[in-house]
Amino acid sequence: MQQPIAILDSGVGGLTVAKEVMRQLPREKIIYFGDTARTPYGPRPAQEVIRFTQEIVDYLLKFSPKMIVIACNTATAFALETIRSRVSIPVIGVVHPGARAAINRTQSGYIGVIGTEGTVNSGAYEQALKQLSPHVDVVSVACPRFVPLVERGNFRSEETYNTVNESLAGLRSTRIDTLILGCTHYPFLAETISDVMGGQIALISSAEETARDISTILHDKGKLARGDLLPVHQFCCSGDPQMFKMIAQQWLNEQIELTPIVWQVP
Ligand code: SIN
Repeated sequence: MQQPIAILDSGVGGLTVAKEVMRQLPREKIIYFGDTARTPYGPRPAQEVIRFTQEIVDYLLKFSPKMIVIACNTATAFALETIRSRVSIPVIGVVHPGARAAINRTQSGYIGVIGTEGTVNSGAYEQALKQLSPHVDVVSVACPRFVPLVERGNFRSEETYNTVNESLAGLRSTRIDTLILGCTHYPFLAETISDVMGGQIALISSAEETARDISTILHDKGKLARGDLLPVHQFCCSGDPQMFKMIAQQWLNEQIELTPIVWQVP
């Protein structure tokens, strides 16, 4: 049986990473978990995010994955090291891939980061960016109103435009040329964010770079999927299955089957 790649998120945001994995690694089977019953993670204390992430990882390990992708920036910022210390398969997050992509893209050295309160307050992006390039200037803004919009499937409306416009007002007067979408939900709002910020600002989603890291790790471990059969992916969520399915099918441009979950939200 083909071992899947396990991808987890607080909700639908990790689908942005799943879509890129499907594009770059079409033979790989994915088992996806969206914790839609407990989204958003952004305002939650670190210990709670760590506990939720651990619970989901325990559930996903039952599918014998060959690696785990924490496709949630908040969970990456708080729980990546804990999860790595507890499992024997490779575990990656989305902060370092996003930071690397931004460093490769910026010309001015002024980089903006938008994310949840948890991610921004953790300083995870700033640390990752400075590690890669000590002289970059980083300005970070928390956008706590974005994730609830995305989880409701509200990607392009007047309400969305106004929310994005108000949240990013402070960033428009800065010198940034590159803006990291430091939450995997935000690519759903990329068009509106671009309308508000202007087309000259490069928007960075960590999805592409994360998929590249997955490919490198699986290649190095001799674990890349082989054969001509296209995989049937599995998707699970802890909350409203209808809403999850609607958003997933729209984003992935294909029909999906939801796996009923045995694990219940405590
Ligand atoms: C959230 O659940 O608040 C957002 C997830 C993320 O940080 O990517």
